[in-house]
Amino acid sequence: MSNSENKTESRIIVTADGSHSVYNTQMGLHYHSIFGALQESQRVFIELGLWAAFERFDAIRVFEMGFGTGLNALLTLLEAEKTGRAIAYTAVEAYPLPLDEARELNFDEILHSHSLPALHEAPWNGPVAITPHFQLTKQEGYLQQFSSEDRFNLVYYDAFAPEAQPELWTAELFEKVAGMLVPGGILTTYCSKGYVQRNLKAAGFTVEKHPGPARKREVLRAIRN
Ligand SMILES: C[S@@+](CC[C@H](N)C(=O)[O-])C[C@H]1O[C@@H](n2cnc3c(N)ncnc32)[C@H](O)[C@@H]1O
Repeated sequence: MSNSENKTESRIIVTADGSHSVYNTQMGLHYHSIFGALQESQRVFIELGLWAAFERFDAIRVFEMGFGTGLNALLTLLEAEKTGRAIAYTAVEAYPLPLDEARELNFDEILHSHSLPALHEAPWNGPVAITPHFQLTKQEGYLQQFSSEDRFNLVYYDAFAPEAQPELWTAELFEKVAGMLVPGGILTTYCSKGYVQRNLKAAGFTVEKHPGPARKREVLRAIRN
């Protein structure tokens, strides 16, 4: 399921907290909140997702819907090294960013880290040990076609908004994602729309609403029943 022929047209932007994001000019979509990419990722995926998973599970397997800029992967890697907890991280991405664009992202500068190039340069479709506690598998392709023997403890559901990609927010696709999680596994997402909550519930999740990052009243954490 290689999509190397899919060329993205994108440019880097600076969000309100100083961290970069990407704007897809073809689709007219931002990869993160323009009010702060770093703040959004930290709140939605690390605080509500990873920290909760640390409390529930020993070894952690994370699945990310949409590798994109690698910001969520980098923040997760930094948590793995800070805590000494082993994390196996799998991300699916249908339209990988060009490497030269990824190299311009300022996340390492802002986070005082140096691992972003290794995340982007890691080969696709196989596990790579990036740091002692962080193993990365980037799978090029569509979530709809993704399959794995592994069961995950945590899903970062970071698809483009439902207005742009409604097919990624259906009860059917959430059922597939629920099947990828262990019982009690966690899914977090920045989108709290009513029908997203309903579709998650229909797919077998218990849905919690939590205060979001800057200018975002609510975000979701869903637990697989
Ligand atoms: C909102 S962006 C988030 C990206 C990333 N998590 C980040 O922090 O930069 C959504 C990502 O999903 C990817 N994507 C879109 N449709 C997809 C699909 N059907 N399967 C897998 N990835 C997809 C996009 O190319 C994009 O990188």
